[in-house]
Amino acid sequence: MKEIKLETRIRIYPLAELPDGELPLMEAAIKATEQSYAPYSKFHVGAAALLEDGTIVTGSNQENAAYPSGLCAERVALFHAGHQYPDIPVIALAIAASTNSRQVESISPCGACRQVLLETEQRYGKPMKILLCGTKEIVVAESAGSLLPLCFGAKDLKFCL
Ligand code: THU
Repeated sequence: MKEIKLETRIRIYPLAELPDGELPLMEAAIKATEQSYAPYSKFHVGAAALLEDGTIVTGSNQENAAYPSGLCAERVALFHAGHQYPDIPVIALAIAASTNSRQVESISPCGACRQVLLETEQRYGKPMKILLCGTKEIVVAESAGSLLPLCFGAKDLKFCL
């Protein structure tokens, strides 16, 4: 038996200390919550993807009366970026959420979205910085992979390719 320790480095910035360069992406994610279609959960999520050329692509959660048919904000943003700009790496993704017209104190991507974040990162072979935008603090991870230890990915399909 051996035991390994998996470590994830996360930086937590008080809102006022977030580097200026990160502000537009955070603001785009907060703004994107306004386009959310969430009549069932009333939990409005916004995501903003920063492409390597500076383009920002946003998405919001789109719900459905048949619940599993809806899609999270992160996947709306990343699938749109992958469709519209397939050759431009995504280098950062900011996520924010609101309910009752107020931004929520903290937000974290669901497991299915983490898998899609990882695929995007591996597709372009560049770290994608993740910004989880809360009202008081911004949680920053340097890569999608750091949010998904022991992940399943393209490497696991190598025998099929
Ligand atoms: N949601 C997201 O958009 N992203 C996440 O990472 C977590 C959950 C959405 C899905 C659903 O529309 C609502 O939030 C409540 O779960």
